[in-house]
Amino acid sequence: VFEPRNIIVTGGCGFIGSNFVHYVVDNHPDVHVTVLDKLTYAGNVENIAGLPSDRVELVVGDICDAELLDRIVPGHDAIVHYAAESHNDNSIADPEPFLRTNVEGTFRLLEATRKYGVRYHHISTDEVYGDLALDDPARFTESTPYHPSSPYSSTKAASDLLVRAWTRTYGLRTTISNCSNNYGPFQHVEKFIPRQITNILTGVRPKLYGDGRNVRDWIHTEDHSSAVWMILTRGRIGETYLIGADGERSNIDVLRAILVAMGRSEDDFDWVKDRPGHDRRYAIDATKLRTELGWMPKHTDFASGLEDTIRWYTDNEAWWRPAKAATERKYAEQGQ
Ligand code: NAD
Ligand code: DAU
Repeated sequence: VFEPRNIIVTGGCGFIGSNFVHYVVDNHPDVHVTVLDKLTYAGNVENIAGLPSDRVELVVGDICDAELLDRIVPGHDAIVHYAAESHNDNSIADPEPFLRTNVEGTFRLLEATRKYGVRYHHISTDEVYGDLALDDPARFTESTPYHPSSPYSSTKAASDLLVRAWTRTYGLRTTISNCSNNYGPFQHVEKFIPRQITNILTGVRPKLYGDGRNVRDWIHTEDHSSAVWMILTRGRIGETYLIGADGERSNIDVLRAILVAMGRSEDDFDWVKDRPGHDRRYAIDATKLRTELGWMPKHTDFASGLEDTIRWYTDNEAWWRPAKAATERKYAEQGQ
């Protein structure tokens, strides 16, 4: 068992990274976290506000900055790498920042890992495996071939391959996890679930892409955090673990559940233009993580997780309001 004391969490002011920082502060009192975050449009210091200053330190900076990494990595025993450009629609409109942050940024972190001999955990996505047909009984496993579809997912796939090559060639102590779609507090309003909740809260009709039958495999972000902690501390070096909680649902079912939970008619939404290259279905088989490490998700009731999330956005309008208008303007320009 690896017992880290000083970890760097890249992207710790984003959605999933900040939830992981909260998880570590709440559950592992001996661990100090240095958050390294560039505070792009997706990063928000409010996400880690109020955490004890002797436990969490924020360094505002770019993972592509090798000199900065030379200054901060020594003295830490692990890097947990969440920072990324994360949104598919943005990657279709302008792929360049995805190449820089997701590919070059991972390269820089791997070089720092090599130089300072720290443990490295790489956060990735099920999207590297491409998509499945709706009627395919198969789910993704650790041995599914890579087949990414979008500029976003291809840069994540590239970053995973860099990790594997650096591990084999230089003997780095790394692990990779590929997780399915997360939901929960602090998710940016550009993403599907927060966009629809905040549309309803602002009197705008929710927007559903294409035929709405695309399937995503939903997991609560706190369950993602517990899985990452387990892999960081007990995972086998050089291994990949898939993270998922058997949460397959079609977009139209999720949207109707949101509408009903918020007291609207389940048909009170707009059909909009489909996403180019839109992946049909993702599905994770997390048997390896469950059997080898004994991981189990806590949030297995999607309806109640969704209700908590709706309540969080209802109660935290001051958090999402500043980003809402600009996000919707961008979508409107894309006809979505
Ligand atoms: P997010 O967009 O909410 O947050 C990304 C964070 O990274 C932001 O705080 C941003 O400021 C920071 N960042 C971006 N570029 C940076 C740079 N060059 N240097 C330093 N910081 C930078 O993303 P998210 O949804 O929380 O995703 C986090 C990670 O999890 C990503 O690696 C993503 O690929 C992966 N992932 C996401 C999901 C999901 O459902 N959202 C599922 C599986 C895996
Ligand atoms: O599978 C993991 C991935 O999940 C992560 O790697 C990505 O970082 C994360 O953004 C997410 O990608 P998706 O493209 O699946 O998530 P998004 O929230 O953008 O969309 C979810 C589904 O909802 C997708 O099929 C597109 C659809 N959609 C999305 C929006 C924003 C709509 O129908 N309407 C919308 O307004």
